[in-house]
Amino acid sequence: MDTSLSRFICGIPKCELHIHIEGTLEPELMFKLAERNNVNIPYNSVEEVKKAYEYSDLQGFLDIYYESARVLINEEDFYDLTMAYLVKAHRDNILHSEIFFDPQTHTSRGIEFSTVIKGITRALKEGEEKFGISAKLIMCFLRDLDENSAMNTLNTAMQFKEYISAVGLDSAEIGNPPVKFKNVFEAARQYGFNCVAHAGEEGPAEYVWEAVNYLKVNRIDHGNRSIDDEALIKKLAADGIPLTMCPLSNLKLKVLTDLKEHPIKRMLDLGITATINSDDPAYFGGYINDNYLAIAAALNLQKDDIIKLAKNSFAASFLPQDKKNAFIALIDAYSKDN
Ligand code: ADE
Ligand code: ZN
Repeated sequence: MDTSLSRFICGIPKCELHIHIEGTLEPELMFKLAERNNVNIPYNSVEEVKKAYEYSDLQGFLDIYYESARVLINEEDFYDLTMAYLVKAHRDNILHSEIFFDPQTHTSRGIEFSTVIKGITRALKEGEEKFGISAKLIMCFLRDLDENSAMNTLNTAMQFKEYISAVGLDSAEIGNPPVKFKNVFEAARQYGFNCVAHAGEEGPAEYVWEAVNYLKVNRIDHGNRSIDDEALIKKLAADGIPLTMCPLSNLKLKVLTDLKEHPIKRMLDLGITATINSDDPAYFGGYINDNYLAIAAALNLQKDDIIKLAKNSFAASFLPQDKKNAFIALIDAYSKDN
């Protein structure tokens, strides 16, 4: 790729909408927290960790991801994790980020919900003051657990409602269709939360339909398999339901074998509000700029495509319209000068 396009990509103001805070745990911080908290981890060196980060599918990754999350114990750990992400987000010119966290991953190990959310929100507040990054939190339910557990999590979260913008659905997709969580999403919507769900990552287009029809989501996370279903693509375009796509994640989890197969450009051309995100960058080898650069190279994207993707990221956010407009105006100003 020519260097002027890569410079343009790195500098463009952008928004991240699909980032799991637990997925930003870099091996170096994992070692530091393991030592600080006296937790045994099955690795002796950063090199060994990096070698272990080869996955044959989503489940292979999730096994390692949940195992590594055990080093997160105290409020300070969640603060350090979040602050390390914000430093990288700032470096990549992210101005707004909507961040997933998985409370059940921690409460199931005896960590208090309040510990998790206090650590994360303290870092977000500081990130706003220090870097000017605005942020929202999305609480994800683990879909391999039952709906009762999700409902208990929602009820616990109500004490911290002011800090949470939306609920989401993640973890092992196949065999755990969105409809399983119909009631808890209905309750969350009644409480005023926005709703998103991972769907069509490994699972079929049918799961995307379910997320739209039963969970009434505002956005779909991943949604790759939507491209298999013409009627679904028409529905997503007509209803303005965005997709938060994650190219390097798809490659590492073998959702596709080559980035050249990635459907994002076809989706943009079909009128879908598709966006680029990093998912679990510490595990997949790249933060948001790496994702933009890799997909631009693979699909021969041009400056106009990058502008569209960056504008989509703000348009698809949960920000109020005036803030979206202000961020999009920054992209126009940047594009004129670069
Ligand atoms: N949790 C963290 N990353 C995930 C992904 N890519 N898919 C489903 N659940 C996840
Ligand atoms: Zn994800």
